[in-house]
Amino acid sequence: MGRPTDSNATTDESLTVRDNRTGKTYTVPYRIKDNTVSAAAFKAIAAPLRPEERVENETPKGLRVSDKGFLNTAVIQSQITYIDGDAGILRYRGYPIEQLALHSTHLETAYLLIYGTLPSEKQLRQFDNEVMSHSYVHADAENFFRSFRYDAHPMAILTSAFAYLGSYYGEANPSLQGQKLFTNGDRSSLANMDRQIFRIIGKATTLAAMAYRVRQGREFVIPPAGLSYTGQFLYQMDHLGQENYKPSPVLEKALDVLFLLHADHELNASCTTVLQTGSSLVDPYSAIAAGCASLYGPLHGGANEAVIRMLISIGSPGNVPAFLESVKRREKVLSGFGHRVYKTSDPRSFIIRKTADEVFKVTGKDELMETAMALHDAAIKDEYFVKRQLAPNVDFWSGLIYRAMGFPLDFFPVLFAVPRVVGWLAHWRQMMLQEGGVKIWRPRQVYVGSAKRDYVPIGNRPVVRGLKVEPLPVPHSGISKRTELAEFTGKSKL
Ligand code: CMC
Repeated sequence: MGRPTDSNATTDESLTVRDNRTGKTYTVPYRIKDNTVSAAAFKAIAAPLRPEERVENETPKGLRVSDKGFLNTAVIQSQITYIDGDAGILRYRGYPIEQLALHSTHLETAYLLIYGTLPSEKQLRQFDNEVMSHSYVHADAENFFRSFRYDAHPMAILTSAFAYLGSYYGEANPSLQGQKLFTNGDRSSLANMDRQIFRIIGKATTLAAMAYRVRQGREFVIPPAGLSYTGQFLYQMDHLGQENYKPSPVLEKALDVLFLLHADHELNASCTTVLQTGSSLVDPYSAIAAGCASLYGPLHGGANEAVIRMLISIGSPGNVPAFLESVKRREKVLSGFGHRVYKTSDPRSFIIRKTADEVFKVTGKDELMETAMALHDAAIKDEYFVKRQLAPNVDFWSGLIYRAMGFPLDFFPVLFAVPRVVGWLAHWRQMMLQEGGVKIWRPRQVYVGSAKRDYVPIGNRPVVRGLKVEPLPVPHSGISKRTELAEFTGKSKL
């Protein structure tokens, strides 16, 4: 939109729009509320189809609002997390992230995010007990985990595991129990929702640890009692039968802080996916599995893994300038930099730096740290990144801590997904209970494809050839050189 043309401000909280195609002026019928206008109101702005215009534009049916990548579209009202990306502020339910990281724990913060207030001692004890006592999974789950290939990516395992978990809980499935299962807001509906929340948070660490152990060829461990959330997780990952095994308190605490920092970040890609999926009223396990799938991408939760792969490929501080030049030529991406919302440093990255120092005191510094520092220092001063307001995000440093703690590289996104189930559940619960019920999320498209055309029998069609408009021949991965050289009936089919 261009600059404003005049400044006759009134106290009227409305929006007036002139459609220069028709000369008509519209006042959007809904008040500007919370500095937001309704996109649906723009449907009233209709114009006749111009003779040269495509019918598929549906111009007489009203104006559409386009927003590729959701740059300025608010899809829900939320009371959970506030981010001011220009000032580098992150608050959960009003509490600054710095205060929570210093004084709270992951499970206390989970309570806060989901239920809206900090719990009393008794409420926290009950919540902790519920979550921790829901950490066990059915013994059959062992077969499920063992069915993966030895080198399966743990995010593929975790994503599938959440969907698998849902198969045990028909009581949590609106397709079986009725569509109002979670939207009723009555006592039994809320209790049912809480049970799924306890289960998902409680079992997230168990599923993650099983995804880890299956690739190590280790037996699974029954979640031990008497440990903290992250202590129990570390135990389940690492215990090999030693007597009185207790995870390092430094690592347990550091992981708890990292979990708390990753617990929520309002409507990022994965949370939006959970809500989009949940808006069809599917069960929460399927919605969480969808969230995991979205998180796995290298632009989102997979960035912590991508940062380390990038640092390994850079190799040493001396290679940083050449790497940055290749980023500027758009041949490479500087993983761990940039954010849709933060236009200054991500406030979590400062806390993570401090946590890294605590961890390095007991683990020793990661050998990639020097390269990371050199890259960070050069990028924050470089005009290309300054001009585009690209600063380090949460993933720039977190991978270095996970590496120092000895987690395998491809396990890093799992360490992001496990705590993030808390935020996903908080948003899912909020949506289920929102006033007016749940509306299915169904965005619009701008159709730019073919106009109507008639079917042509196969013998009469012109052949369409070219990249992207026909499937490419691909080698069959299962066919070895030996098979290619072998003789057998039907060989032409290869
Ligand atoms: N390296 C190089 N250039 C970049 C980067 C980067 N990491 N990020 C953005 N840019 C450039 C981009 O090319 C564009 O330049 P131009 O205007 O000249 O075309 C400009 O900066 C604006 O970028 P954008 O792609 O329009 O920004 P976006 O808001 O759509 O994307 C992002 C945000 C996080 C996907 C992107 O910054 C990125 O790809 N970063 C690297 C991946 C990463 O670290 N992801 C973790 C994000 S934080 C935690 C989480 O959400 O999981």
